[in-house]
Amino acid sequence: MKTTRLAFQILILSLFLFALVTTPISHSSTAPNVEARVNALLAKMTLAEKLGQLQQLDGEGTGDFRPEHVDLIRKGLLGSTLNVRGAKKTNQLQRIAVEESRLKIPNLFGYDVIHGYRTIFPIPLAEASSWDPALAERTASIAAAETYASGVRWTFAPMVDIARDPRWGRITEGAGEDPFLGAAFARARVLGFQGRDYSAQGKVLACAKHWVAYGAAEGGRDYNTTDMSEQTLREIYFPPFHAAIDAGVGTLMSAFNDLNGVPTSANPFTLTKVLRGEWKFDGFVVSDYTAVKELINHGLVANDRDAAQAALNAGVDMEMVSRLFNQNGPDLLKDGKVSQATIDEAVRRILRIKFRLGLFEHPYADEATEAGSILTAANRAAAREAAGRSMVLLKNQNDALPLNKNIGSIAVIGPLADDRRAPLGWWSGDGHDDDTVTALTGIRNKVSPQTKVSYAKGCEVLGDSSAGFEEAVNTARQSDVAVVFVGEAKEMVGEAASRSSLDLPGRQMDLVKAIQATGKPTIVVLINGRPPTIAWIVDNVPAVLEAWMGGTEAGNAIADVLFGDVNPGGRLPVTFPRTVGQVPIYYNHLNTGRPPEASSRYNSKYLDVAWTPQFPFGFGLSYTQFKISNLQMSAAEITSNGSLTVSVEVMNTGKRAGDEVVQLYIRDVAASMTRPVKELKGFKRITLKPGETQRVEFTLGPEQLGFYNRDMRYVVEPGEFKVMLGSNSEDLIEKSFQVR
Ligand code: BGC
Repeated sequence: MKTTRLAFQILILSLFLFALVTTPISHSSTAPNVEARVNALLAKMTLAEKLGQLQQLDGEGTGDFRPEHVDLIRKGLLGSTLNVRGAKKTNQLQRIAVEESRLKIPNLFGYDVIHGYRTIFPIPLAEASSWDPALAERTASIAAAETYASGVRWTFAPMVDIARDPRWGRITEGAGEDPFLGAAFARARVLGFQGRDYSAQGKVLACAKHWVAYGAAEGGRDYNTTDMSEQTLREIYFPPFHAAIDAGVGTLMSAFNDLNGVPTSANPFTLTKVLRGEWKFDGFVVSDYTAVKELINHGLVANDRDAAQAALNAGVDMEMVSRLFNQNGPDLLKDGKVSQATIDEAVRRILRIKFRLGLFEHPYADEATEAGSILTAANRAAAREAAGRSMVLLKNQNDALPLNKNIGSIAVIGPLADDRRAPLGWWSGDGHDDDTVTALTGIRNKVSPQTKVSYAKGCEVLGDSSAGFEEAVNTARQSDVAVVFVGEAKEMVGEAASRSSLDLPGRQMDLVKAIQATGKPTIVVLINGRPPTIAWIVDNVPAVLEAWMGGTEAGNAIADVLFGDVNPGGRLPVTFPRTVGQVPIYYNHLNTGRPPEASSRYNSKYLDVAWTPQFPFGFGLSYTQFKISNLQMSAAEITSNGSLTVSVEVMNTGKRAGDEVVQLYIRDVAASMTRPVKELKGFKRITLKPGETQRVEFTLGPEQLGFYNRDMRYVVEPGEFKVMLGSNSEDLIEKSFQVR
């Protein structure tokens, strides 16, 4: 009797869990009567109040609001602020909205919480290197809880721009070059920030940005023009946004860039036809910072009024910082240039999200619990784990790593060894430099009390001076091993931080050479926010660890990896070039008529550098070894709407437990539109004990096998498909199947 009851309970629970994971995410069930409430409110609003909801204004850098905000909010003329934060300050302003304005519509507080609010997690590019979306979901969820505690209810994240050009500083904010990996991280981050119901305590509204193709800026120069086929747009740049919408994201941000001659903050094709028409997105779109006003610089319009008209009619709902909707709305309406329906629809979308967010029910933050919810020991522990899982071991000749904790002496060298700023990366929220555990501290925390740890900076990240080299060299000479920390300063990555060179800046490469020349075993740890060009290091230094900008706990996590408490399992989410002249270089390129493998002169390559990358997409080593073999397919032939499963056996052939990331790529060998030489269509990070074997299985169906044809229809075409599995985009075993 008991067992049947238990079985019944398990059945109900499984049905519930099944429903939970298979139901598309919708907020209608959790926020009842939203549409009716929106319409009731809309009916009471004056035009000025409506336009007020479409406006977002910036606060002070300190997190304070500005005196003007008080006045506007009291009159019902401001819908949202950005950068105003902290429970006390947000409550102060919110009280005016909720208690003193005519319609009592709460203000929506936004802030850039990109990879942490106060506890800073690894930069998003680093987290993508974990190939573990569940990890990104966890860190986003912790970031959401800290954000919520501070009164902020909306983050301008995730940044889901595909970036194939490491010169672009904002490559640091996204998940790298691949649409499939990018979509997986977009989905995970939205779920982390919002959960399945973003009105829940500790959850915040997310914003997928920057819609769209911002990452394709020509020359890698920030804010620059983009020009591409609709196929590329749909296949490469759209998928992470689509995944974010599938995961229920409430808002999108329109971008700064021009796209095929129509700036994305006034582009009816992307903002209305695709977003609202095809994808049925019912949340709202906020422009990027002054992007509406910038339509004049783009040369799309000649004046403020036309800029407002173009952006509103194209589908931007909320204007960030510039005020052209408010200044020109009444005239545009009077002259019939913008319809009442367009304005009402924008207001409706914003109010809908405010209701779904539960802002009307819970407009205030809890000042008493704020401090206790932020930078907790548990959050720091999660940051440490995330940083460890994000690191990529690039080279490890003769098992130079891991180091022994009982080593006699260790020289910790380099401008980033004891730097508290760089590990936080760009957009480090409310993170404090003082909170950062540097690598030097992490190493000191880790080694045995007998180990002598000596530190020498050597040089700055930037600048010409080598005055510190002598001390650094002597420090290395007196130690058993030298670990050199080089990379980029915080200000060298992120927005408006494009670089024309990917070399280590300043004298850092010379410092590495000087240390290597001592003959002491040398290890290089990179702390940076984009792929660097480090050919000399790769050729000459026995061990190289890509630690990225790892956040608040970076130093402890680095020590975990250097000393083997964590076995690195990260993989590159972006191709590392040999020289900047190879850029753009990405794995999922087309083949050309003269692919570079051929041995004649007249094929697609360079005279002065190999055409291959320094490290391919998906690459990363471990302290153990894996063997991937025995590729099996459930069918050798399928129909165009059919599917098959593909699996391989993975064995840990080494002596330590470790993580392998099994990656699945396909190639559609001949099609009516030429297809990439490889496309990632599946991946799985698994942990195996020494000697352990596991079979890893993937399913391939129309969603993975199709593309946009010449008529812009998504099709799966008959013919041969290659399927390739392995531990990076080059090291693969393959088989073929046919689509009939
Ligand atoms: C950035 C956005 C950011 C916004 C608000 C802009 O300069 O492009 O990504 O969300 O500022 O801070």
